[in-house]
Amino acid sequence: MCGIVACVTSKKSDFAADACFKGLEYLEYRGYDSAGISLIVDGKFETKKAVGKLESLKKEIKSKPFSKSNIAAGHTRWATHGSPSIENAHPHISTNGRVALVHNGIIENAAQIKSEKLQNIKLTGNTDTQIVAEYLSMLLEETGNLQNAMTKLVKQIDGSWAFVAMDVKDNSKIVCSRHNSPLVIGKGESENFIASDVIAFVEYTKNAVEIKQDQIAVIEWDNIKLFNFAGEQIDYANQEYKIDWNIDAAKKGGYSSFMEKEIREEPAAVRNTIYGRGSQDGRFGLDRLDFDENYLKLIDKITVVACGTAAHSGYVARFAIEHWCKIPVEVEFAHEFRYRDPIVNSKTLVIAISQSGETMDTLQAVRYAKQQGAKTLAIVNTLGSALDRECDAVLYTYAGREIAVASTKAFIAQITACYILGLYLAEVRGNLFLDEIESKIRELKTLPDKLAKVLQSYDDIKAFAKKEKNTESVLFLGRHIGYPIALEGALKLKEIAYIHSEGFAAGELKHGPIAIIEKGQLVFVIVPPKNDRAEVHSKVLANIEEIISRGGRIVVIAEEGDNSLSEKLEKGGIEKIFFRPKTSILFSAVLDIVPLQIFACSVALFKGLDIDMPRNLAKSVTVE
Ligand code: M6R
Repeated sequence: MCGIVACVTSKKSDFAADACFKGLEYLEYRGYDSAGISLIVDGKFETKKAVGKLESLKKEIKSKPFSKSNIAAGHTRWATHGSPSIENAHPHISTNGRVALVHNGIIENAAQIKSEKLQNIKLTGNTDTQIVAEYLSMLLEETGNLQNAMTKLVKQIDGSWAFVAMDVKDNSKIVCSRHNSPLVIGKGESENFIASDVIAFVEYTKNAVEIKQDQIAVIEWDNIKLFNFAGEQIDYANQEYKIDWNIDAAKKGGYSSFMEKEIREEPAAVRNTIYGRGSQDGRFGLDRLDFDENYLKLIDKITVVACGTAAHSGYVARFAIEHWCKIPVEVEFAHEFRYRDPIVNSKTLVIAISQSGETMDTLQAVRYAKQQGAKTLAIVNTLGSALDRECDAVLYTYAGREIAVASTKAFIAQITACYILGLYLAEVRGNLFLDEIESKIRELKTLPDKLAKVLQSYDDIKAFAKKEKNTESVLFLGRHIGYPIALEGALKLKEIAYIHSEGFAAGELKHGPIAIIEKGQLVFVIVPPKNDRAEVHSKVLANIEEIISRGGRIVVIAEEGDNSLSEKLEKGGIEKIFFRPKTSILFSAVLDIVPLQIFACSVALFKGLDIDMPRNLAKSVTVE
């Protein structure tokens, strides 16, 4: 959460400020409560800040343009300490005007630093970053050098941070440090950049240097130096890489929102996840495995840790992995996991699922699992992310960049990766015969085309969403693998359309939730395939009857050719059926979620909401 971008160039111009603003536009997915940019102009900081989305900062800059400068740092904020306000917006300038600081993360001992080190200083605000900016300037006065001040600072603070700092008396360099929050350098021709995500500078350069955990960087327009927290210089050759995508991936490409674009990219996301690492002889492998494969034969439990949508993909994974590999699978919200003394030991495989790979709750769960002796495996979309680096094994989802806050294509790619992992484990552990695995892989490979077919109903679902834009409450029901899909459908609708929605296990209905069904209540029901687990199918039909008889309005997601519901569609009770191509129940999750994603995206569109940047949210939750 929070986006950082900074730039230092060879000469004074509008470039540094413009590049920072543009970078912030690309980083806005990380937070959009307030934003600000500071430059050094004639030995003073020139700073503009605004509350709300970047549009407000843009107006501010337009009404009084920035002066020319060779150095700038900007920030877009997702509030943790302190409300969204100008006072709390970054960059923070120390009271003596010497230091400008932008920060992503939380400094947990800020109050202690304030009371022990800054007793005589009257701060204008009280956020952790303001305290650190002040303390950094004090250390700078002591050491006379921003790099030395930063090296002293990082030894005294706890928490998580990506810092970018400027000293008003030295406009030649930007000093940064990283601990538990991402930062990456962009190497340009006559300028260098630093940002939370390469998206902020990919328009200008594809040459990147990742700042690794617990490193400090000193960046001049023609020089980059990296140090560890002990102050020793580091050779960073192995941290350099080329960005292999271009800025078009970060544009909407003519769609009304990134979310719509990303839903439409789902067939490609699944295809790339299946074929991304190549499969030899019908066998899937992992992208990285740092321990002996035989260890996987010894594990007696899998625990999936994840948050939000990624956790829902974990619930889907449980069905497939337990069924194919005959190994118990627990799924747990990462933020709950380590607080309940979970049984995790050297025979446990902990799978962490994450789009960003930077979700702090998930990272902390992984760290806890490692301390208990478990092996960890990441299913992650962001190569080089903290989760990618810290886990003992990795399986990438090749969904491509996901920009909309509401996760769609990454979710589908996560489920696909879970199937791949399940089949890989079944093969390594000898749970399935090779021909059985091959037949499942063949079916998995049909999913991209089937997804493309589901997407043909986009306009139909959109038209239905238009009629429902004023609906105040929507329920989602599913059984078996349809249950996590119901949870995910409800999450999508609440997070971007602000409609109260809940997902239920269909069988749970009669144990309480049915009390809220009254005339007109809209209920989405996911009907499983008729010929695969017929008993689940007939139970869901019974649940539909229960809702109809209490006046509920039903929308069904069902398999093509399932005519058990046609009569109810004609006679009333069922308002709409969206059909998906036939597939086995375990794979149906990938197809069933799509109409629900389109529905949420379209309702938000017709309500005139900001689909890609829903209120109070941010794309990566890098704080606990
Ligand atoms: O980056 P991650 O996959 O770890 O993020 C986990 C959740 O924060 C994320 O899925 C969140 O629930 C999304 N807003 C859902 O659309």
